Amino acid sequence: MCALATLTGLALAATSVILLVFATTNGNLNKKEPPRTNQKKNLTNLSDTTDDNVQFILFTRQHPPHRIKINDMISLKKSGFNTSNPTKIIIHGFQSSIKEDVFVANKNAYMESGDYNVIGMDWSSLCEFEYLSAVGGARRAGKILAEFLNWLSGTGVALNELHLVGHSLGAHVAGIAGHQIKTGLIGRITGLDPAAPGFREVDPELKLDVKDAKLVDIIHTYIRVLSIAQPMGHIDFYPNGGRWQPGCPDIYDIWQVGESLVCNHARAYYFFAESIRNKHAFKSKRCNSVEEALYGRCHEETEVYMGQAETYKSGLYYIRTRAQPPYSLSNN
Ligand SMILES: *[C@@H]1O[C@H](CO)[C@@H](O)[C@H](O)[C@H]1NC(C)=O
Ligand SMILES: *[C@@H]1O[C@H](CO)[C@@H](O)[C@H](O)[C@H]1NC(C)=O
Ligand SMILES: *[C@@H]1O[C@H](CO)[C@@H](O)[C@H](O)[C@H]1NC(C)=O
Repeated sequence: MCALATLTGLALAATSVILLVFATTNGNLNKKEPPRTNQKKNLTNLSDTTDDNVQFILFTRQHPPHRIKINDMISLKKSGFNTSNPTKIIIHGFQSSIKEDVFVANKNAYMESGDYNVIGMDWSSLCEFEYLSAVGGARRAGKILAEFLNWLSGTGVALNELHLVGHSLGAHVAGIAGHQIKTGLIGRITGLDPAAPGFREVDPELKLDVKDAKLVDIIHTYIRVLSIAQPMGHIDFYPNGGRWQPGCPDIYDIWQVGESLVCNHARAYYFFAESIRNKHAFKSKRCNSVEEALYGRCHEETEVYMGQAETYKSGLYYIRTRAQPPYSLSNN
C-alpha cells in the first residue's frame, strides 16, 4: 500500500501543474478547426436538456452519418438505426469532440468489423473551457445521456444490450447516465483511462462505478498523472502496469509534457480500437492486487482479453503490449 500511497501523492502533486498544461496542449494538439465562439453556457442548469449542447450522431455501414434527436422518432427512423445490430455509444473526454481519434479510430474499427449502430456523443460545447467547468459539464452531459437512453429504450432498444465506451471525463459521463436510468441496467460500460482530477472524493452517483452497468470494464493507462489507480469496474486492466505507456515521451522531459500527457492518456482508446479489429489481441494475466498489477507481478494465465471481447471474469489483469501499433504482442 505504501507504493500506492506514494504514487497517489505524486499524481496529486503533479495534477495541478499538469492540468494547466493539459488544458492548453490537449486543445492545441487536437484542434483542426478555428476556436469556437460560443458564449459561456450555464453548465450547472441540469434541467436544461433541450438545447444543442449534446448531439448524438449515428454511424452505420449502410447510411451516411445522421443526427438522432431525443424524443424525435422521425430522426431515429431516418438515421438507419437497425435494432438487429449491437449499439455502441462512444463518449469523448475533456476538450475533445467526435472529430477526434477517440471517436474516429473506434468508429472506423467497428465499421470495418461488422454491422453496428455506432453513436458518437458530442458534448464538446460542455467541456471546451477550463477543466473544472468541464467536470460540471460532465454531470449535465450524463443527465442528457440518461434521457437519451431512456427514450431509446422506450423505442424498443434493450438497455442491457447497450454498450457505452467513455474516455477520461467521458467515462464518468457514462457512469452518471448509468446511475440515473431507473428502468433497468445498461449492459456494459467501458471506461478508458477514467479521469482522476475532480473525481477522487466525489460520491458514486457522480462518477463511474460498478453499479452503473451489468459489466463495467476499465482500461487504466495513465495512473501516474491523469487517471484513477484503484479498481473501478468489475474488471480492471492495467496494460504495462497502467502507470504510463511504453513508446510515449517521458513526463519529465519538459519539452514534451503535452505530448506525454496526450500519448499516455490516448493509448487507452488506441488499445480499445485494436481490440475491436482483433478481439484476442490482448490476452491478460490475473493479478491478486493493484500493486501486483502496477508492477507486472502477475503470473496466472487466463482466457480474459482486454477490450471489446466479452470473455470476462471479474478481477484485476495485467497485459504487456508493444510500444507501437499494432500493440498486440500476439499474431504479429
Ligand atoms: C445556472 O443554473 C442553476 C440551476 O438552474 C442556477 O441555480 C444558477 O444560478 C445558474 N447560474 C448562472 C450563472 O446563471
Ligand atoms: C434551465 O433550463 C430550463 C430548461 O431549458 C429553463 O426553463 C430554465 O429557465 C433554466 N434555468 C436557468 C437558471 O437558466
Ligand atoms: C438490419 O440488420 C440485419 C442484420 O445485420 C440485416 O439482416 C437487415 O437487413 C437490416 N435491416 C435493414 C432495414 O437494413
